[in-house]
Amino acid sequence: MPNSDPFSNLKKHQKEMWASFTPTAMFTTPVAGHLVKFASIVSGEHVLDVGTGTGVVAITAARTGARVTGLDLTPELLAVARENARIGQTESIVWTEGDAENLPYPDASFHVVVSQFGHMFAPRPEVAVSEMRRVLKPGGRIAFATWPPEHFVGKLFAFIGRNSPPSPSGAAPPPQWGNPAIIAERLAASFEAPFFARGTMKVPALTIQHFRTFMEKSVGPMQKLVEHLASDPEKLAAIRTEFEALTQSYYADNVVHQDYILTLAQAR
Ligand SMILES: C[S@@+](CC[C@H](N)C(=O)[O-])C[C@H]1O[C@@H](n2cnc3c(N)ncnc32)[C@H](O)[C@@H]1O
Repeated sequence: MPNSDPFSNLKKHQKEMWASFTPTAMFTTPVAGHLVKFASIVSGEHVLDVGTGTGVVAITAARTGARVTGLDLTPELLAVARENARIGQTESIVWTEGDAENLPYPDASFHVVVSQFGHMFAPRPEVAVSEMRRVLKPGGRIAFATWPPEHFVGKLFAFIGRNSPPSPSGAAPPPQWGNPAIIAERLAASFEAPFFARGTMKVPALTIQHFRTFMEKSVGPMQKLVEHLASDPEKLAAIRTEFEALTQSYYADNVVHQDYILTLAQAR
């Protein structure tokens, strides 16, 4: 990470925060199927997956015959991605440790840039968009999955934000990437008007308390919130009660329903 990056500390924190994410990728796997289909990725295309994590989108894209590169900040997840690629016989995928805001690829390298709940965590949307556009070939396309602010995960991020130390000033809140008007505005300068689709990620949970326990272990922002409150048991208990109340309206038939939005846009 270059020292000139004003958000290098935030990214260092993100890198550490996401290292425990692997169990959650079981639930992002079906979304990857939806995103790859929505992006109409076909054999022979060069595809970049930004914020690849354990590689669920990259590997799904590679199974179409596309030539895929996966990029992520977090080396622990890339190690799992490599093992997933070995198991899935998609070893040709290239894995890169790197930052969505500083993509280490030449201009016009890819036909498609995808990101599933990944680039939304880059603090400067305009920098991430400009980088994703720069590495696209003429007429290439961008396709991504994000969390709308009005559904469960968007509300969860707002809840975590309210109860955590403040983010560095100037960092855009990730769920803004789930608002179609903001998405259209952010893409307007370098992409044609976007198309949208929606879906629901389903997370099975025996009880809401099982779900909370899972989230506290495997979803970095929740894990950090609980660590931050470890010395204040009363506040921690109150936060856990609030988390369970928030989850209640999305929990039915032993599943927590998490609505996402997909965006597809062609480069100008
Ligand atoms: C919620 S996980 C999603 C992982 C994967 N795409 C999936 O759907 O399972 C967010 C991922 O974004 C990565 N990430 C966060 N900020 C990033 C940045 N600035 N550049 C690249 N990756 C980033 C994290 O390391 C993490 O792997």
